Amino acid sequence: MIGTVSFHGASVPPDNLLEDVVAGLSLARKQLPPKYFYDAAGSELFERICELPEYYPTRAETELTRAHIEAIAAFAGTNVELIEFGSGASSKTRILIERLRPAVYVPIDISEAALTLAVHALAGAFPSLNVQAVVGDFARPLTLPRFDGRRGRKIVYFPGSTIGNLTPEEALAFLRMTRGLVGPDGAMLVGVDLKKDANVLHAAYNDSQGVTAAFNLNLLKRINRELGGDFELSRFSHYAFYDPHAGRIEMHLVSPERQTVRVGRHRFSFDAGESIHTENSCKYSVAEFRALAEEAGFAAREVWFDSKGLFSLHGLLSS
Ligand code: SAH
Ligand code: AVI
Repeated sequence: MIGTVSFHGASVPPDNLLEDVVAGLSLARKQLPPKYFYDAAGSELFERICELPEYYPTRAETELTRAHIEAIAAFAGTNVELIEFGSGASSKTRILIERLRPAVYVPIDISEAALTLAVHALAGAFPSLNVQAVVGDFARPLTLPRFDGRRGRKIVYFPGSTIGNLTPEEALAFLRMTRGLVGPDGAMLVGVDLKKDANVLHAAYNDSQGVTAAFNLNLLKRINRELGGDFELSRFSHYAFYDPHAGRIEMHLVSPERQTVRVGRHRFSFDAGESIHTENSCKYSVAEFRALAEEAGFAAREVWFDSKGLFSLHGLLSS
């Protein structure tokens, strides 16, 4: 038997790639939203990033989840509705599902390709699991799918330090919204990458095989394909650096020379050295993230680490 799988579309109005690209490239400091990295090719590239020797977060979070699964389960409780934001391949979630046996699993991801692959594999692995998959933007107000069955507390699982791709101000608003979603009895499990040696961070976003560069440049490929753009990928380069004052990695696509690019009927000029800011990846100390969660109205109850102290998983209660 295969587990129950239903698909839902969530975001109203839907994403508007053209509008967001034109708006972002029209700014004095050009930028593009990182959620658009994840077309089918982008999701595949992200999975390759997770395997890179320099990219420690996935290995560290997987290790800590396995090591602390009993304490995590005690925090989560039984019969839960497990909602996951940015579920991707749902790899670490398998460890939770195996132990928690949730009443329902609601993975939410903007990448339909990644979500489809993940939920079909999960349904095969967990035949009695009820999966209600939602294709959409977790940063927008969401209506969760209704399902028949027992209802426990709602737990939002947000691993991978995807919360770091929001600025602290955006993360605060997002945590407040999530608190409303889980309700007074709900909880959150949030994976957060820790501040550390800038060289370790730099290497993680400048891997020697160039997979992160390909992931970054894939955004331009997507714009070319979906919006009729004429970006020449060889005329842009991947640039990622850690800013220790801001506590974040910034990822950019730099134009080494003057050039003009067309996207549909729009034209954008680049000066020599001008960049498109494509992603922030904010890093937090335990105290910084706890303060943010508490400001959003959560009680920061638990925190677990991997054996090298690279990554953290916070257990937050809606207080
Ligand atoms: N949770 C997985 C994947 C992290 S990669 C892990 O820990 O390894 C980030 C995931 O979030 C991708 O699958 C991407 O498609 C998704 N994502 C990014 N921005 C999103 C948004 N605004 N709404 C929904 N999903 C988003
Ligand atoms: C999904 N997100 C948390 C990743 C990160 O580390 O910020 C995306 C990524 N960007 C470059 N490498 C990985």
